[in-house]
This record gives sequence, structure tokens and C-alpha cells, in this order.
Amino acid sequence: MQIPTSSTNTATIDHDFIPEIELGLLAENASISPKFLYDPLGSHLFTAITLLPEYYPTNTEKNIFSQYKDQISQAVGIGGTLIDLGAGNCQKAESFFESLKPSNYLAIDFSVEYLQDALNKLAGKYPHILMQCIGMDFSKQLIIPDSIAPTKRTFFYPGSSLGNFLPSEALHLLSQIKNQANDGGLLIGVDLMKEDAVLMTAYDDPLKVTAAFNLNILRSTNSHLNSNFKVEQFRHVAKVNHAENRVELYLEALENVIVSWPGKSREFKKGELIHTENSHKYTIESIKQLLMSAGFETTQIWTDPKNYFAVIYAK
Ligand code: AVJ
Repeated sequence: MQIPTSSTNTATIDHDFIPEIELGLLAENASISPKFLYDPLGSHLFTAITLLPEYYPTNTEKNIFSQYKDQISQAVGIGGTLIDLGAGNCQKAESFFESLKPSNYLAIDFSVEYLQDALNKLAGKYPHILMQCIGMDFSKQLIIPDSIAPTKRTFFYPGSSLGNFLPSEALHLLSQIKNQANDGGLLIGVDLMKEDAVLMTAYDDPLKVTAAFNLNILRSTNSHLNSNFKVEQFRHVAKVNHAENRVELYLEALENVIVSWPGKSREFKKGELIHTENSHKYTIESIKQLLMSAGFETTQIWTDPKNYFAVIYAK
């Protein structure tokens, strides 16, 4: 975790991701955690995905936010600390600064380099909001440091990022949010289940931006592990898994491949898959259920005319 020291400073504590990556690569069904998608290039490629017309979640959520800005802001209330989980370029949170008037803004992301740049720009624009950022992998544990005032906290978790988690992991994260909200709440965006064709072009777009984003995880892995993945030996695959209510992303070996890194190696047969991401899709009922199980007592829900996406304030 990187703890902020002054308004936009960060201090670094080194993470060691090697054991986690090795465990995934050496498993019979190999996997690489989606958090490794977001190295500096991967973060930019994700931003490019959000500009694709086929990738409906970003635009749909944006439209819900702007259409119901007043109702949402009224539900959330003004002041306190706005805590942005997976802040990225901080643009979505910024669009609420005027109506929510937070006294503090805490941006949290896995990729702190990208975050720091975004926050520096923002701090100049909103001098009256105290801004801090933390580089944190909250996929296992979410800890808001004691230095963050124990006033009302509004957790902001847009973009259906919750979808990366298995239902059990999502429940764990939502419970931790509820426990640290100090009488505030959670403003969250979740993607809803829909027909396969819409999901498939969103996750396998014709410009191949999503393919580049997914394949880049091999380069990101090489830099963490000192491994020798070659991007050209794999291809991007997206599948809809109806039993698990999710889109799954994989990288498929185009030939027999041996990947090695200091001390270890792994063979992939032609056609073998490396699982890189799950993107869970909810129904209004299933997400309400999950929030209630996490300890939230009330929900207010806004959606789009096609019911593609839902924005929820849970308290
Ligand atoms: C950032 C996890 C919400 O699941 O839609 C986009 C990531 N992967 N295209 C999603 C993603 C491929 C995205 N989330």
C-alpha cells in the first residue's frame, strides 16, 4: 500500500507479485489476475476501450449519471470524503465534485503512476478539495488509512469494476466498504446481463482494442516476472459463460509454447487457454441481494432505457 503524506504525494512500499503470478501460471488451468492488465500501457488501452462505440458500459453509465445527477446527488448528500475505488483517470469522480461538494477526495488504484498524473492535474483545478491518492490492491483487503478523517465516507465504485470479482469476493469487498463507510454509503455502477451478441462485440471489438488490452497482460507479466512470453504466439478470446453469469477473457496459444522465467517454466500446448478476466453481469435482483448480504439496508437504483447498466446508491 502506498500511503499519502501530503495533498498529492505518495510513498512506496514494494509489492511482491511473483508468487501470485507463478501460482496462476503453473496451475493446470492457467490464469493471470486481471489486475496485471493495468500497467501504464494497459491503463491507456482500457481508456481507449471506453471510447469504443461497442463498449456500451462506459457510455451507458455516463448517460445515467448525467440524466439522474440531481437525484443521485440528493441520495448521496453533500460533504465528507469521496473515496474513489479504481480511480483511473479520475474523470467520473470529477463529474460529481460540483454536486457532492466533498471536502476530501481519496483516489485509490492499483496503478499508482497513472493515478498520480491524473490527480496532480485535478488538484490544481479544485484547490478547496484536499486530494490524496493511494496505490492499493484492494482485491484482497480494503483498508482506509487512519490518516483519512473518520467523517462520512462515500465510496464511489463505478464502471462495473465489481464484475471482476467472483460473487464471494464481491461480497467480501462490499462488506468491508459497508464497515468503513461511517454512516455514508456506496455509489456503484454494475453491468446487467444481456444478449450474447451485445456482450461479444463489447469484449471482442472489430478494431481489436480489447485484444491488444488483453494481450498486453503478457508484457505486463514479463516485466513483473522476467518471463519471456511472446505476444504474437497468443490470441484474444472472449466467451459468455451463462452458468456463471459472466463474460470470460482468455489468451489462446497459437502454437506449442514454452514460457520460462528465473527458476521455472510452463508449457502451453497449441489451443491451450490462459484465463485473464471475468466480467460478471448482474440482474437488479442479484445485485440487490448481494448488497443486502453485505449489510447495506437500502438501495436506490437508476438504469437506462435498455436496462443495460445500473447505478445504485446503497446505504
Ligand atoms: C474494468 C472490469 C469493468 O469487465 O468490462 C473491458 C474490463 N475488459 N474490456 C469490464 C474490460 C475488457 C472492464 N472492467
